[in-house]
Amino acid sequence: MSGGASAGSPVEDFDAVDLIHTKRDRGELSTAQIDWLVDAYTRGYVGDEQMAAMTMAIFLNGMSRTEIRDLTMAMIASGERMSFDGLGKPTTDKHSTGGVGDKITLPLMPLVAVFGVAVPQLSGRGLGHTGGTLDKLESIPGWRANLSNEEMFAQLRDVGGVICAAGSGLAPADGKLYSLRDITGTVESIPLIASSIMSKKIAEGTGALVLDVKFGSGAFLKDIEESRELARTMVALGQDAGVATSALLTNMNVPLGLAIGNANEVRESVEVLGGGGPADITELTVALAREMLALAGKTDVDVEAALQDGRAMDKWREVIRAQGGDPDAALPVAKETHTVYADRDGVLVQQDALPFGIAAWRLGAGRARKGDPVQHSAGVDLHAKPGDTVTKGQPLFTLSADEPARFPRALESVDGAWRIGDEGDEVLTGGPLIADRVGG
Ligand code: URA
Repeated sequence: MSGGASAGSPVEDFDAVDLIHTKRDRGELSTAQIDWLVDAYTRGYVGDEQMAAMTMAIFLNGMSRTEIRDLTMAMIASGERMSFDGLGKPTTDKHSTGGVGDKITLPLMPLVAVFGVAVPQLSGRGLGHTGGTLDKLESIPGWRANLSNEEMFAQLRDVGGVICAAGSGLAPADGKLYSLRDITGTVESIPLIASSIMSKKIAEGTGALVLDVKFGSGAFLKDIEESRELARTMVALGQDAGVATSALLTNMNVPLGLAIGNANEVRESVEVLGGGGPADITELTVALAREMLALAGKTDVDVEAALQDGRAMDKWREVIRAQGGDPDAALPVAKETHTVYADRDGVLVQQDALPFGIAAWRLGAGRARKGDPVQHSAGVDLHAKPGDTVTKGQPLFTLSADEPARFPRALESVDGAWRIGDEGDEVLTGGPLIADRVGG
């Protein structure tokens, strides 16, 4: 049993049970107690069963701003801290709290790199209905997600941008804690999400950081006020640590763009880089790029022009090639498709993000357990967005998968998630795409 010093072992500073009692009874943990807890959990002295009780106590009773800062700093101290000081140019990064069809990192990274600001985009893989940037990019033949720190630094210096897997040396306490939260129903907690995200981003060593904090059906936090509180907490953590940080609060009630999956999201991103693609993807990409560049000191830049004149596309091709990928290679296509058609004339008034994310996941685009493979060609392609006029017989969306046996469960998940109404009916989008900005 963990949590008590055994004979002959060094005496521990605290007892995990005392700390759990404190948090269970709505008390506040000291800096020394949090430092000890994170360190003792990382080295295996405090066990998963005790940390599970602690995360549930935090989930239920919250943490003060000081406790959240201490937790973040303790998780940073559990691993290495990178530095891009020797790069000779400013660095700026973006982190999204995750959503359905959220492929923004793909066009955003090269777009920002065009302006001479380096973008170290350390990314993750998808779990559940939210996709992962690395899974999407691995649809490109030859593309490599795992780079050494030296390779990453060299690519940032020579090409100006990189999207790669965050090494296990960054905030290892978070890796352990996140897996535990995932199986104990303690993911959706502001102190735990804020410390998890910000420990990795501060340890990464970026000079500036823009957070895309989602709210709505396809986001971790459904309620905009909760998302605002998360954004404020993370912005304060970043600024306290010397990282220029701001956040946009963005709407995740409706899928972003038209593609949900992996290879189809890469295709859509390439369209945006070519100056086309869905309007919402371009709007969010441009807004985040402006924010990232402004935090890095570049305000007098024409971001849209770089999408229209091919500079962002050229940078994308350079970045993909630098990581072994072939930007001209054909992307995988699924063996089977199933299209759903409009059953009447009218206006598409509802298209709920979460069920469409679940459909893509059930088709094989996402994974149920860490380490599962994903099917790069699986996913959902939408042919209409809320507010569009549709006519009977028009395709509304297409499911793609290698095994047709996956279609019934995917169709089940979107049952009731979309609706055709009449002209003048309320269109249920949950408001504008970009609802607010948080930051100095
Ligand atoms: N992403 C993270 O890295 N951590 C969380 O807790 C939630 C989203």
